[in-house]
Amino acid sequence: MTTSATRVAERLVGAPSMPALVAAANALVAGDKGLLAIDESIPTCNKRFARLGIAQTEHNRRAYREMIVTTPSLADSISGVILCDETIHQHTSGGEAFATVLVNVGIVPGIKVDLGAKPLAGHPGETVTEGLDGLRERLAEYAGLGARFAKWRAVFTVGETVPSRGCIQANAHALARYAGLCQEAGLVPVVGPELLMAGAHTAARCGEITEAVLREVFSQLHTQGVLVEGMLLKTNMVVPGFSCPIQPPVEELAQTTLCCLRRTVPAAVAGIVFLSGGQSGDLASARLNAINTAGRQPLPWPVGFSFGRAIQQPALSIWDGRDTNAGAAQHAIAQRARNNRDARRGAYVPTALLAHA
Ligand code: 13P
Repeated sequence: MTTSATRVAERLVGAPSMPALVAAANALVAGDKGLLAIDESIPTCNKRFARLGIAQTEHNRRAYREMIVTTPSLADSISGVILCDETIHQHTSGGEAFATVLVNVGIVPGIKVDLGAKPLAGHPGETVTEGLDGLRERLAEYAGLGARFAKWRAVFTVGETVPSRGCIQANAHALARYAGLCQEAGLVPVVGPELLMAGAHTAARCGEITEAVLREVFSQLHTQGVLVEGMLLKTNMVVPGFSCPIQPPVEELAQTTLCCLRRTVPAAVAGIVFLSGGQSGDLASARLNAINTAGRQPLPWPVGFSFGRAIQQPALSIWDGRDTNAGAAQHAIAQRARNNRDARRGAYVPTALLAHA
């Protein structure tokens, strides 16, 4: 019987695109850089605009994303930017496609390809991420528009009895099917199982579930013949829920996170990038810094970032829907991106400490 590992090896030897895929995955985590996620769906972007009183129009969403992708020196800290379906079709006011703007400064364009989390039948309160139907065709279209990697996010609520086995298995299976299709299309999959940080759960509970989810995800990836050298894992740090009364220090959480990842993520995976999940920019950078300085043993994989809110805040409120604020907002984006490149090097100095230096 041909095992899926044999199939992977055959593809690696036989298909010239596989080494290219591995090189592309490695490039996304090289040089201590990371990914910037600006792939919020239209409703999510609108919700963030609404909170600040910014008009929720296509014009404003385009202007906001133009401000971000044209940030000076962004490529010093950012290797790839994740766009969404609306944004990959948009252009700057000068008529240049956003993907082209990014490529011209040496940043790799990526695309969010899932169609969102939908209620999972038979599992009240739980979701499964959809978007596999027609994905092969959509990947070909996005590759034609310049995307070289693709993200799919599966979300899990943490509770005493959730996530259920059914929810974990359904999402892991979908992640593996999407990752296989990406690699077939020559795009690097950024495989995104995410435990939500809402709630009062402890870091230990987060660790227990993250471990169960990652075990299932890598089992399904293996079954589907996904080459782990040609993918990135995008996941949550092992941290307590926002309303948990016990918030351990960053050093302790770094150990808990690495323990969980070492147990579950094959050393061959090209890299692990964390989402920020609603943590403040400072906290996300401090925790990433601690993970990169923890322990004496070198880590088996590069450990970086694929942050959305932790880089976009406070730039969104500075921008506030006005072109005249774009320069100041870009300054804030570049600063937070640099903070996270520093955190990968274990050299992050919290903004509050700098202010008092
Ligand atoms: P946050 O860093 O804001 O969580 O967004 C990252 C992301 O892309 C979630 O899938």
